Amino acid sequence: MAVGSIMVTGGAGYIGSHTVLQLLLDGYQVAVIDNLDNSSATAIQRVRELAAHHGPSVTFHQMDLRDKPALDKLFASTKFDAVIHFAGLKAVGESVEKPLMYYDNNVVGTITLLEVMATHGCKKLVFSSSAAVYGWPKVVPCTEEYPLSAANPYGRTKLFIEEICRDIHRIDSEWKIIMLRYFNPVGAHPSGYIGEDPRGIPNNLMPFMQQVAVGRRPALTVFGSDYSTRDGTGVRDYIHVVDLADGHIAALNKLSDPSIGCEVYNLGTGKGTSVLEMVAAFEKASGKEIPVVFSGRRPGDAEILYASTKKAELELNWKAKYDINEMCSHQWNWASKNPYGYKPSESKS
Ligand code: NAD
Ligand code: UD1
Repeated sequence: MAVGSIMVTGGAGYIGSHTVLQLLLDGYQVAVIDNLDNSSATAIQRVRELAAHHGPSVTFHQMDLRDKPALDKLFASTKFDAVIHFAGLKAVGESVEKPLMYYDNNVVGTITLLEVMATHGCKKLVFSSSAAVYGWPKVVPCTEEYPLSAANPYGRTKLFIEEICRDIHRIDSEWKIIMLRYFNPVGAHPSGYIGEDPRGIPNNLMPFMQQVAVGRRPALTVFGSDYSTRDGTGVRDYIHVVDLADGHIAALNKLSDPSIGCEVYNLGTGKGTSVLEMVAAFEKASGKEIPVVFSGRRPGDAEILYASTKKAELELNWKAKYDINEMCSHQWNWASKNPYGYKPSESKS
């Protein structure tokens, strides 16, 4: 896509903020909408500072995706060439406890967005899907054709939204939609100025390990050491968040291809890394010892999950550049400079 005006939902969040930065550096004008449910406006301010010497700007609108009149007003005031849709809730355990909250926020939010986009003739969308739609794969690497299933309500919201997108494209070929199935995003911008700042106790490996390294938590609990993997711990495809952000620019470019309809691409590295390998890489990058405690398998966890990256390489002309050591070193750069994330200290959290 020739650079244009992009709306980014959830742009204050972890992946969103890194993508907004790459968009600005590439010359796009950006409008972020976010209700700040799981993020901080400071992230947007820092993105602005990092992109200060580049022409385009970012506007921030604190708003909920489900607020249709507000969304409608924004689309009426600005012509957007495309939308990148990150906004959503993503904690698997919480989704099991509060399924209606997840269906309302993620599915109803997306339907509201799609309706308003259609009303204003903006029919280009890049959507954040997840490797969670592969369930527990029997065969790896996962190709995009792998049968879909979801192990929890969070994963089902992604599955439902994917199906909704396929349905609207089926009856209206003006829709151009790319759904990106992320594997495990980690790391931070190399400046250490933006990064992941989850609320409460982190559910995911890297943010948890980072909090152990800065002394906020005593030890990492390793979930399961009896998997049939190299060292018995779970294997995942960790991908640097800046590579992931660049994948969105590649997807925007692809939306200009007249032959594109509704397509899905994996964004991963194609390499599997175990929990203990990740711990060793993070210890090396940070110079900190990460005490580990072994416990049983986490319910719902897959054993081995990594991506086939062929389709994205071939059709999006995109490939991840960063390796595990760089992911850990950038994660540590962010963590050591911002031990309490965007908050000045734990007392303000
Ligand atoms: P995040 O929580 O950091 O960002 C999501 C943002 O959306 C937050 O800033 C939140 O405040 C906002 N938001 C949520 N509901 C909203 C609503 N109704 N209206 C407006 N704003 C709302 O999460 P992230 O890691 O940046 O993930 C971005 C997207 O990628 C999500 O859809 C997530 O499901 C998907 N995804 C993430 C991962 C991962 O491991 N981080 C993996 C696969 C897919
Ligand atoms: C999890 C979700 C997945 C979601 C993704 C991104 C589950 C079952 N899966 O994926 O649906 O798309 O997050 O939000 O929750 N681990 C530990 N100790 C920890 C944390 C994790 O050992 O404290 C292990 C896990 O068992 C796994 C690996 O580290 O083997 C990665 O875990 P995590 O970062 O939570 O990602 P996923 O499980 O891949």
